[in-house]
Amino acid sequence: MKAVCGCARNNSHLCTPLMDINDLLQNLREALEITPDNDKLRAHLAQTLLTAGKAEEATAEYKRVLVTSPRDAKSKLGLAKAYAAMQQWSAAIVILEDLHKQGPPDHDVHLLYSRVLLQEGSNGKAMDIYEELLKRWPDRPDADLDEQFRVTGQGPEPDDDEDYEDDGPPGELRASDLIVKTDVSFADVGGMQGVKDEISMKIIQPLLHPDLYKAYGKKIGGGILLYGPPGCGKTHIARATAGEIKATFISMGISDVLDMWIGKSERNMHRVFEVARKNAPCVLFIDEIDALGANRSHMRQSAGSHVINQFLTEMDGIDADNEGLLIIGATNMPWHIDPAFRRPGRFDRTIFVPPPDAEGRESILEILLKSKPTKDVDLRNIAKKTEHFSGADLKAVIDIAIEEKLRSAMKTGVPEPMTTKDLLKGASTHKATTREWFITAKNYALYANESGLYDEILKYTK
Ligand SMILES: Nc1ncnc2c1ncn2[C@@H]1O[C@H](COP(=O)(O)OP(=O)(O)OP(=O)(O)O)[C@@H](O)[C@H]1O
Ligand SMILES: [Mg+2]
Repeated sequence: MKAVCGCARNNSHLCTPLMDINDLLQNLREALEITPDNDKLRAHLAQTLLTAGKAEEATAEYKRVLVTSPRDAKSKLGLAKAYAAMQQWSAAIVILEDLHKQGPPDHDVHLLYSRVLLQEGSNGKAMDIYEELLKRWPDRPDADLDEQFRVTGQGPEPDDDEDYEDDGPPGELRASDLIVKTDVSFADVGGMQGVKDEISMKIIQPLLHPDLYKAYGKKIGGGILLYGPPGCGKTHIARATAGEIKATFISMGISDVLDMWIGKSERNMHRVFEVARKNAPCVLFIDEIDALGANRSHMRQSAGSHVINQFLTEMDGIDADNEGLLIIGATNMPWHIDPAFRRPGRFDRTIFVPPPDAEGRESILEILLKSKPTKDVDLRNIAKKTEHFSGADLKAVIDIAIEEKLRSAMKTGVPEPMTTKDLLKGASTHKATTREWFITAKNYALYANESGLYDEILKYTK
């Protein structure tokens, strides 16, 4: 007889009443004492134990079966179910991943795999598996997962057929949209020697001496977090790094990744990393990374925290190899970044990118003026008069001077090259845009400077 049972399982469900099950278990155990090598019987005992809510005992029996019958897919699934019942998600995932890869397609495997991934926080992957399930068994959806993944009434974007374009499945972020061409290199970056050195150690040298790095067990690539006032070259140097090593450059905006579909944002995030890995060596640049880390505590229960978890998983490279991937994050608001981002193996270098010093400004001016008409420009003098100016500010100074020259050229009909005087005049009409940032930054550096993270800011503002 079947009835709603009172066993430990969450949902009320139909199963054999407990009394009967205990008798049955007793009988099965006795039978096994006589024929201990009967795997079929033992598997049956394990399944009955699981039904009775005795997951731990079921685990032990399934394990015994799998010792002698390691290819028994049904027992493997049973073991995964037992682990799931004990909330041992990663143990369940290992088995389900194997079944999903090796075994024949099985609705139950897909279903449990997706559920367990979801529990473990790998929403993107969970969504992938559930979509696969829907594709294979369109008439056997799961109400819970449907609700989890769908925020609109529509189903996942349809896949017309199995043969994907080279660029990835339809509806996914396209590699060609993600990869950006870059024609700048370190020669186009003035100053920033500290950042250049760090980048060099993480990707340029490893690519030049792969064997040496391998000998020390050091990876090619890694994560660097750049922070500082606006316009000081964070984006510029990320691009230049890719150009320097002739690597692929991917610039990921958080808004590109976020999607109204629950699960889709994680999948987008996964996709970006996949494209990056496939195109290694690759510089993956994440601008305004604070947008991702900012509200983690507020988002803990929502899709947002799943996106962050997905990001951290991708960075850890547990499921995939991040060899040859340099991940550069940039932000003006490092204090909004979750400390989890800075754990070893993630952004383990946090670098302050201050406004350039006089020498830096001189070389930035030289770079920016390279293709412009100038005459006897005293770069050192201009650099001296532009303290606190960012690279972007220096660019603005040049723009002002050019506009002035154009104006007079239109009057006289004679185009004249820019001189020191023109540029100094430009500098006097432009205000450094970095100061405001330092007012805020200094407060954080003084009052929220955990582990001396912002000492550099204090040093600079002194
Ligand atoms: N060190 C530098 N060398 C040469 N050019 C620079 C340098 N720093 C800044 N620039 C110029 O200023 C522009 C703005 O710099 P960039 O966009 O890299 O600043 P950012 O630090 O990313 O600013 P934000 O925080 O606002 O994103 C660059 O496109 C480049 O032309
Ligand atoms: Mg930038």
